[in-house]
Amino acid sequence: MEETWTKVDAYFTGLLIPPAEAQAATLQANEKAGLPNIDVSPLQGKFLALMVRITGAKRILEIGTLGGYSSIGMARAAGDGAHLVTLEYNPAHAEVARRNIAAAGLSGAITIHTGRALDTLPVLEKQDGTPFDLVFIDADKKSNPEYLDWALRLSRPGSVIIVDNVVREGRVLDADSTSEDIQGIRRFAGMLAGHPRLASTALQTVGAKGHDGFTLSVVL
Ligand code: SAH
Ligand code: DHB
Ligand code: MG
Repeated sequence: MEETWTKVDAYFTGLLIPPAEAQAATLQANEKAGLPNIDVSPLQGKFLALMVRITGAKRILEIGTLGGYSSIGMARAAGDGAHLVTLEYNPAHAEVARRNIAAAGLSGAITIHTGRALDTLPVLEKQDGTPFDLVFIDADKKSNPEYLDWALRLSRPGSVIIVDNVVREGRVLDADSTSEDIQGIRRFAGMLAGHPRLASTALQTVGAKGHDGFTLSVVL
């Protein structure tokens, strides 16, 4: 199955992701710097970019930058006058992202805050323009419940919240998991259930990066 997923991913990537969108330079710089290959896939990145366009998002928050692959895709889609704030714990990752963002000509459109997101969120609340139109949560999964609280706090009715990696090859089903990340994903999913300020769905994904998925919510 996994082989078929990868082939189908390659098929649609070839059809739908032209070289100008593919960010070959970003991915090459990430690999050269030894960053883990855990960026969103090109088709998932395009999904995020399309969500930005569909919603007309101009103020975007991302938690979990890595090398800036998803940041650059969303900031490009948001266009002139938009701003994306992205939070990264690892200074080495942030440095690679800074260079990739500069090479993409987006230094003026993207702000990176380096540090634990739970430490930088209270700071950015005071500094950067809020509310955010779209929030993409893609960092340490154990903190997803806190990140959802922050996303709600920094949102308005109509804001969109997308959370990556909520399936983890099905390990989300393991209520007894000893993984803090799985427990964080499960607590987060429980918060979505019947949340008075959110309408939500969950979509599984397969492809070159295995079996995973994301949740999509709109703030009511
Ligand atoms: N959104 C990126 C991938 C992010 S990978 C993309 O698709 O291109 C997850 C990132 O979250 C890693 O770079 C990791 O260092 C960062 N991270 C982990 N814990 C964090 C924390 N507590 N605060 C901020 N970032 C964190
Ligand atoms: C991991 C993190 C991610 O954000 C991702 O998309 C895939 C894997 C990880 O920490 O393993
Ligand atoms: Mg992810």
